Amino acid sequence: MTTELIRIRGLLENFEDFVRAGNILKDGGVVAIPTETVYGLAANALDADAVKKIFTAKGRPQDNPLIVHIADFEDISKLVLEIPESAITLAEHFWPGPLTMIFKKSDKIPAEVSAGLSTVAIRLPSNKYARAVIEAAGVPLAAPSANLSGKPSPTSAQHVMRDLSGKIPMILDGGTCEVGLESTVIDLTGDVPTLLRPGGVTLSELRKVLGTVSVNPKILEEVSDNEPVASPGMKYKHYAPGAPVVIIDGDAESFKNYVLANKTDKKVAILCFDEEVSLFEDSDLSVVSYGSRATPSSLAENLFSALRTLDDISPDIIYARQPDCSDGIELAVVNRLSRAAAFTHISL
Ligand code: TXA
Ligand code: MG
Repeated sequence: MTTELIRIRGLLENFEDFVRAGNILKDGGVVAIPTETVYGLAANALDADAVKKIFTAKGRPQDNPLIVHIADFEDISKLVLEIPESAITLAEHFWPGPLTMIFKKSDKIPAEVSAGLSTVAIRLPSNKYARAVIEAAGVPLAAPSANLSGKPSPTSAQHVMRDLSGKIPMILDGGTCEVGLESTVIDLTGDVPTLLRPGGVTLSELRKVLGTVSVNPKILEEVSDNEPVASPGMKYKHYAPGAPVVIIDGDAESFKNYVLANKTDKKVAILCFDEEVSLFEDSDLSVVSYGSRATPSSLAENLFSALRTLDDISPDIIYARQPDCSDGIELAVVNRLSRAAAFTHISL
């Protein structure tokens, strides 16, 4: 299959392309679309056969459910059994935007979307091109990140092309994703709203509008084999480059000394903050920076792209730096990086 890559210039300029993307989706096909978080691989969420194509293209485990994307809050009513008050509050504050809410699902949602669970994840994206595609398709769109399963999520159309070229008919290129990490996922089906995945909407923002929000401990811990999890995505190795990633905590000088002392004859690559690049100026190490420590949103924006750059270098080992895991977007950065590192840490 040839993959058509379409550069989007505007809603009007590319009107015909949105209609074509909508038709592919109506006919049961898949299309990769930009969103404000990461690129998504979309299919009609109400069509089980269409949804199966997503799993095939990505090589995604069947037991990992998908997020359903809508363009209007009203669209939610057919997809869920009940709308808790907390969902209305959250929608007022954070939709459209990088927040996914988990509801009890209606029988309109095929088991392929919910991976057999009784719940469904729903998001109303803020990216205008994403919304235009949902509207052109006229149906809610199931869309996981548009990467090969296990690879870093794509934050540009070129990343999608690298992973899925030849496997899908169309990619809409809406430029680089604004947030750079996937949406925050909050479960509203229990007594207390529970954060399952940190993202663009932060924990303190959620608590400010909802009061109590609990945090699933597996956000920052490894899940052992066969351990039950609240969100199937927590079980899988994620976002991983080919080489092992080791996170090094400690001040910049100790970090430098550790890396140089442990270099041996390995091909070492460094993932660090902009502020630390000069530490390795005189070394022969490959140094990739992913933003300024002082601007955590830049770390979120560039992390996945940096992990892909590191993959291209094919080092034997990657030593990585992470921000302090306070609240804020830092929690999401640390969550993704910890998973890329399979929770391997060294504290100096
Ligand atoms: O920002 C995003 O959320 C992007 C863009 C494309 O919207 N999508 C995305 O999808 O990240 P995906 O499939 O890569 O991640 C969805 C996560 C998975 O960890 C999955 O296990 C979890 O959400 N999830 C989906 N449905 C769920 C459910 N009913 N209960 C618990 N977790 C669920
Ligand atoms: Mg994903």
